[in-house]
Amino acid sequence: MARQNTVQGTVQDAVRSTLQGSLQGTLQGAAQGATLVLGGLGADSHSVGLFVLRNALEAAGFRVVGLGIQNDFARFAAMADSCDAVLISNMDGHAEYYLREVEALPGGCLWYLGGLPAVAGRTPELLARGFTRVYGGFVDTDEVVAALAEDLAGRARCTVRPPVLPVPPPRSGRGADPDPAGRAEVLAQWPTGAGARDIEANAEVLAARPSLALLQGGGARTLLHPRSGVRASGDQQQLFADLHAAGAQVLSFQVDSLTRDGRYAEVAQVARDGGALNGFPVVNHGVDTLRRISAACPVPLQTRHSARDPRLLAEVSYAGGVTAFEGGPICYNIPYYAELPLAVSLARWRYVDELTARYAELGVVLDREFFGTLTATLIPPALAICTNILEGLLAVGAGVRSVSLAYAEQGSRAQDVAAVEVMGRLGREYLGRGGRVRVATVFHQFMGAFPADRDAAELLIRESARTAALARADRVVVKTPAEALRIPDVRDNARGLALAAAGLELAAADPGAVDGMEAHRIERTVRHLLEAVLALRPGDVGGCVEEAFATGVLDVPFSPSRFNAGRLLTGRDTNGAVRVIDPGGVPLPQDVLDFETERMRERLAIARVPRAEAWRLVARDVLEASHPRAGWPLDGRRTIRAAG
Ligand code: 5AD
Repeated sequence: MARQNTVQGTVQDAVRSTLQGSLQGTLQGAAQGATLVLGGLGADSHSVGLFVLRNALEAAGFRVVGLGIQNDFARFAAMADSCDAVLISNMDGHAEYYLREVEALPGGCLWYLGGLPAVAGRTPELLARGFTRVYGGFVDTDEVVAALAEDLAGRARCTVRPPVLPVPPPRSGRGADPDPAGRAEVLAQWPTGAGARDIEANAEVLAARPSLALLQGGGARTLLHPRSGVRASGDQQQLFADLHAAGAQVLSFQVDSLTRDGRYAEVAQVARDGGALNGFPVVNHGVDTLRRISAACPVPLQTRHSARDPRLLAEVSYAGGVTAFEGGPICYNIPYYAELPLAVSLARWRYVDELTARYAELGVVLDREFFGTLTATLIPPALAICTNILEGLLAVGAGVRSVSLAYAEQGSRAQDVAAVEVMGRLGREYLGRGGRVRVATVFHQFMGAFPADRDAAELLIRESARTAALARADRVVVKTPAEALRIPDVRDNARGLALAAAGLELAAADPGAVDGMEAHRIERTVRHLLEAVLALRPGDVGGCVEEAFATGVLDVPFSPSRFNAGRLLTGRDTNGAVRVIDPGGVPLPQDVLDFETERMRERLAIARVPRAEAWRLVARDVLEASHPRAGWPLDGRRTIRAAG
């Protein structure tokens, strides 16, 4: 799923309405007694927008039944006779696919489709199937709320109470069994698995490929890494060649949503129908095809995904000559899945780490990267660093010899540079094993709501690359100016690479310095958090992780997972840095907590938002970067200071 964009169109809607503040009084009447069902459709994992939209709708007086994310259409249909309107959000580009068998929408309610459902030009056809309104891109929430009020006016309110829906069963893999499944069973998940069986032969193929582990740390410059994934293998091979020519030094398969969800039979059907996918279906293509593509690619290849069950994907990737694999039991679970127990993801990722270690024993050092980005939105740096290190401890404990720790730019350059510096230093300390394990840092260009405005997006990409270089990140994962609009094509990516290269030049000309106070606070917080987590079940890192999430000691803001406490609340201070508004159960050093609370008290006061309504501030901060005049980075910008 295109998680990584993280902030839904619906957020934009919600937020703009809260910014303008005000249809709300007049809407109370229209909303009176109306029940709305709100949820995400399909494998898509975006959840921030649902959080904000729900708050905005409730503030406008609607009763909202939240279905959370990853609902099949049938779950919405089951609610159609017991609400006044169903609001469906989808952002992974597969809305048409998920709605393919719906000829006419059921029930007596109204139906809305929004988010960023990639249904360009199809609105009349969707309206004919019964949607009341279809929002193909970002819209103002005032517009959505006003539309609801208008459409519901004069209609009798539904009096049936919504049913309590059962929790959906896991869709893929071997069910919720926490035991690691055996290799034969994993390889049997799909026919292409058989092609990955011979580890020695695979190791020979891998040894001949450029290695990400070796490339990282080898040069002084930050490596440029774009994302890319298309359905057909020939197109993917060409894409890699074009991106390499455009300056990419590391390339990766961005895997499609259906593969991430283990729906290989559906991928096969889409391929037979000649339909589009939002990424490259690694498993369906299989080992031989991957070997052909990787042999033609002059730079290291990685697989990026967020799969629910990563084991077969890792097997096929490695066997196909891919020298790096992204993901981990926290970072590819908590921000992505509603119902995936940590015990299950820990077991599955243990398998991937052990497989990676097997290759290391055969002399091939493959890299494991963690997606420290988490939900990408207002993530306190220390939390991202802490989860990276915990996943690193699990990987290194299983025998992995190269790890990449990733951090998503939040927007304050001072904070971002300090965070990456601390992450590299503590990463080497906790995971380096005296130099036997390679530890690299990865900087994700801003992963939240991007500006749709071309100039603003270009400025962001250039300045963000400059921040990555100032932070001495080993690699930067580059965005494109089309980020707010679509999955990027090759030209979008080439432009992104050129802008990022220019940003690296700017940093080389003026290297700057790390904010020592900020780095010191982050470092002490990471150590404090790690100490608290690792004391929960001494000697059992996986158990510590499970316990930490169960008790809220680790808590990821806006996570869709029911295994995450969801009590930590964050926002931006007047300088754009991410600070804690409410720590929930997360233990912070007292002086850090005092400092952050004070910074946020100041911000809330300036924004004239009461602490009890801090979600309004979140709504603004989530969208801060997408404003055409926001500028980048956010440090000291007037938009933040004057917000309110
Ligand atoms: N090709 C290129 N980029 C992609 N992204 C998602 N799918 C693809 C793809 N198939 C990008 C999104 C966002 C991030 C999550 O990944 O545009 O930047």
